[in-house]
Amino acid sequence: MTDRIVRVLAISGSLRRDSYNTAILNAAREIGAELGLELEPYEELATLPHFNQDREADPPVQVAELRRRIADADAVFVVTPEYNHSIPGALKDALDWASRPRESAALAEKPAAAIGASTSAFGAAWAQAEVRKVLAAAGANVLDRELPVTGVHGRVVNGELVDEETREQLHGVLEELRVHVVGRTRSWLTV
Ligand code: FNR
Repeated sequence: MTDRIVRVLAISGSLRRDSYNTAILNAAREIGAELGLELEPYEELATLPHFNQDREADPPVQVAELRRRIADADAVFVVTPEYNHSIPGALKDALDWASRPRESAALAEKPAAAIGASTSAFGAAWAQAEVRKVLAAAGANVLDRELPVTGVHGRVVNGELVDEETREQLHGVLEELRVHVVGRTRSWLTV
């Protein structure tokens, strides 16, 4: 259908400096570039105010910026850790802000995907499922695909995703996201 670059706002749910999830997001940026996806990292999660419904129509400047960036992107890609079997609070606040006001929500109809990584054997499976649930509740068009990266401390070394299996799985998810946004055909792949 098109060979245009797909612009994706990429959000890591971790605020940790040496975050494994952010490392995977950075690997996704490299892999995405090969697929025609430009992943733009959202790096302001740490300073985003908590959600406050009193401010949804007159939001803090950081919230207005987040909503603008989601609205301008072709898609949203979330890489999340899992805290106590659920979504990190800061990430939930971001998704809640972007779900309101309901009639003009930045996430409404927005193509989206969520994956996650943890040091456990479950790979943030619950957290990423909950992110998909929240995105869907916000009206996003969510890719029905999971990627639980288990034992991530053995797959990321010095901030680099070195595990080839995970890189291939990430490639698969990003390819599905591109198809989800623009359809299957890219002219330079078919010549
Ligand atoms: C965790 N961790 C975790 N892991 C998991 O698979 N399921 C869980 O429920 C939890 N719960 C949890 C709670 C809290 C408060 C912390 C700090 C950690 C482990 C977590 O997945 C691990 O620390 C990841 O490395 C965090 O991701 P980043 O920051 O490396 O991206």
